[in-house]
Amino acid sequence: MIGLDAQGRIELPNRAASEFLGVDLQGRLGEPLADVAPEFAAMIEAVMAAPDKPVTAEVEHGPAMQKRVLLVRIGAELKAGLADGFIVTFDDVTELLSAQRKAAWADVARRIAHEIKNPLTPIQLSAERLKRRYSREITSDVEGFAQCADTIVRHVGDIGRMVDEFSTFARMPAPVMKSESLERIVREALVLQRVASRHIDFQVEIADPDLRALCDRRLIGQALTNLLQNAVDAVAMRPGAHIVKVQLFAEGHNAVLRVIDDGIGLPDTDRAKLMEPYVTHKTKGTGLGLAIVRKIMEDHGGQLDLDAAPGGQGAMVSLVLPALTAAADAPNLEALGEDRAI
Ligand SMILES: Nc1ncnc2c1ncn2[C@@H]1O[C@H](COP(=O)(O)OP(=O)(O)OP(=O)(O)O)[C@@H](O)[C@H]1O
Ligand SMILES: [Mg+2]
Repeated sequence: MIGLDAQGRIELPNRAASEFLGVDLQGRLGEPLADVAPEFAAMIEAVMAAPDKPVTAEVEHGPAMQKRVLLVRIGAELKAGLADGFIVTFDDVTELLSAQRKAAWADVARRIAHEIKNPLTPIQLSAERLKRRYSREITSDVEGFAQCADTIVRHVGDIGRMVDEFSTFARMPAPVMKSESLERIVREALVLQRVASRHIDFQVEIADPDLRALCDRRLIGQALTNLLQNAVDAVAMRPGAHIVKVQLFAEGHNAVLRVIDDGIGLPDTDRAKLMEPYVTHKTKGTGLGLAIVRKIMEDHGGQLDLDAAPGGQGAMVSLVLPALTAAADAPNLEALGEDRAI
């Protein structure tokens, strides 16, 4: 609590107020509070203009990284209708607000997850039925038809598992680490993109078709899909661009999944910053893509690299993760133990 005189100068501060604000208010008696704590200035001005109306507001206080939210109330002490002084009281509501926001966010996410679940089963059944019923009747591109139907069924299954886990526990599913063929992950991710962006020339260069890694296939697929989506976006933003190349190769003990495009190229900013959540240069972007990819790579003991494309035009983005060697890739993964050659 702080008592101010009729001109808004500090008159009677208590110790708690000094601690809250991180300022020795006792040593600044007689100074206008608006000078000592400028974040209160607008409120003080408002009560001075209309002393019969107390003002309450949330005020942010403190240095950028440790901002606290204070619920501040300023009321006038009236004498014959005029302000004789002011009383400032405040509470630190930082933790309360952050707990409320978290609870609200989890609640919204659960509801959305729940509603997403409803149409999934009909989508899956329809795709399976299309495949069963019409595969025989189709005369052109039979393989493409079956592949599209399988893609729908597989992705709907993945979404279903994610949503189940989320609506029950409000968390993402735990990774399922298995020895996986990286070529398969590349091919599966490409099916989806090829169907969605027919105007783009997707090129695939698989130097090591036998390359395997101990990973969660769904998560690495999700990471690669994010990179492909960014490449498609970048290509769309530069007239004449149309190439997205995916490479898979071994580099030392690592496997590298790389996406190169001839789009607008990475923005001229700190590259590490692009991996932070909510950093986007797109009107409809969330800026979460690369942040999710980086987290997935960290969980796999790998990394995400951002570079310019070798030809000069466009971007080159790489997922690097420990590869399983042929010897280590025994059927019984638990038996691999510590000497697994990574
Ligand atoms: N292949 C690329 N070419 C050019 N810029 C890229 C490329 N990939 C990423 N970026 C830059 O990095 C930024 C962050 O990417 P990120 O995937 O995290 O978010 P976003 O794509 O903007 O949003 P969202 O993923 O939600 O659609 C992009 O806005 C873009 O400026
Ligand atoms: Mg993105």
